[in-house]
Amino acid sequence: MSESPLVRDLISVGEVGSEYTVRGWVRSRRGSKNVSFVIVTDGSTIKTIQCVVDGDTDVSEADMARVQTGASVVIDGVLVESKGRGQRVEIKALRLRVIGDADPETYPLQKKGHSMEFLRSIAHLRSRSNTFGAVFRIRATLAQATHRFFANRSFQCVQTPVITASDCEGAGEMFEVRAGKDHFFGREAMLTVSGQLNAEALAYGLGRVYTFGPTFRAENSNTSRHLAEFWMIEPEAAFFDIHDDMDLAEDYLKALIDSVFEHNEDDLQFLGRFVDKSLIDTLDMTRGATFVRLTYTEAVDVLKKSGVAFEFPVGWGVDLQTEHERFLTEEHFKRPLIIRDYPKEIKAFYMFGNDDGKTVAAMDVLVPRIGEIIGGSQREHRRERIEERLLADGMELEDYSWYLDLHRFGAVPHAGFGLGFERAVMFCTGMSNIRDVIPFPRSVGAAAF
Ligand code: 4AD
Ligand code: MG
Repeated sequence: MSESPLVRDLISVGEVGSEYTVRGWVRSRRGSKNVSFVIVTDGSTIKTIQCVVDGDTDVSEADMARVQTGASVVIDGVLVESKGRGQRVEIKALRLRVIGDADPETYPLQKKGHSMEFLRSIAHLRSRSNTFGAVFRIRATLAQATHRFFANRSFQCVQTPVITASDCEGAGEMFEVRAGKDHFFGREAMLTVSGQLNAEALAYGLGRVYTFGPTFRAENSNTSRHLAEFWMIEPEAAFFDIHDDMDLAEDYLKALIDSVFEHNEDDLQFLGRFVDKSLIDTLDMTRGATFVRLTYTEAVDVLKKSGVAFEFPVGWGVDLQTEHERFLTEEHFKRPLIIRDYPKEIKAFYMFGNDDGKTVAAMDVLVPRIGEIIGGSQREHRRERIEERLLADGMELEDYSWYLDLHRFGAVPHAGFGLGFERAVMFCTGMSNIRDVIPFPRSVGAAAF
């Protein structure tokens, strides 16, 4: 271990009797005239290291006065066994220096228990709090686990453009891109809502690919589950059908949960205690469960027979609302489920038309507390069918000319999905508002730029 290890390593594998340098921020300070207990955090773990400062410590009176919550410090000392409860070791400080002050009159994170709304208004500071530290460490774990999962299955990581001209989802919820008043590209251009169409092009060359990028939706839905800027992971695989796609989605979600149990045990315990008491049970249940798989038609039957008075009425051909999805996963089946074969009218043009002529091979993965976390489908690879769907949806074939061209040469069945990264972070942290799982949220009418 280095001489200035991260707190995470120091408290777990630091050797008692050795000298180390602790570099971090003061979380709190208490004590008497003769001895001070300075609690230091460095962001590597939710845990802290206690540094004991006494008459033997080389520190000026002026510096001691600057040891305030939020100040940055460098402390050299000897690691000793701690007499305090709940900690293996502490630092007996030999020398303490304050690097940067945090004025107690103005530093907003003095005490615990700030509301999420307040913390959202100081997004630039909130990563210093326990809750956001835990959330963003778990977010990082999920990103790493994503790359590992797909690499292990021979999916190539690809990058797709942020600026685009085609409306992948056909929902018309795109932000325009201009330079001043001008069409910079000589035509209309937008921020992408999904990297899928480009990923499909790459899957025809590379076989199995995935993207992990920002996506943008100008949805006017000011809900706790929608952002205007969010991140999506989109695998796309040639020769996959809808069943391969569902298997991949289920395995991926379970791998994400496993990674959090493996790397963020302390963060999970904290969030399970202070944010969502059912968090750990829900995650454990999910990774152990076989996801229920049923068709949209079966799901509508369950909802109709439930006798529940939903705000939005249920009927075949109408899209499922969050209340329906949550009823199915939380109350009826009590585990994650995958609904497939939706009516073609409520789904995007690129989905594979089933033989019944009425449904498409779409699938949504629903989990408790969140509802839809993944949306995907087997893609329509029969070019004439894609053209028919585009025209039926009132789109211009010209706008999709390169996409149609793909399927002119060596078209094969293929499938993919999109996981909303923030929804996955919500699920794995118990956070109830999507604005609190992305460092700097952008949502309709509310962005703390
Ligand atoms: O279901 P969606 O719209 O699917 C697609 O965009 C496909 N092109 C994906 C694919 O097949 N490659 O979006 C995928 C997921 C949703 O299940 C949801 O988790 C998330 O993206 N999502 C959002 N997350 C945050 N804010 C929003 N406004 C979101 N819209 C969708
Ligand atoms: Mg969807």
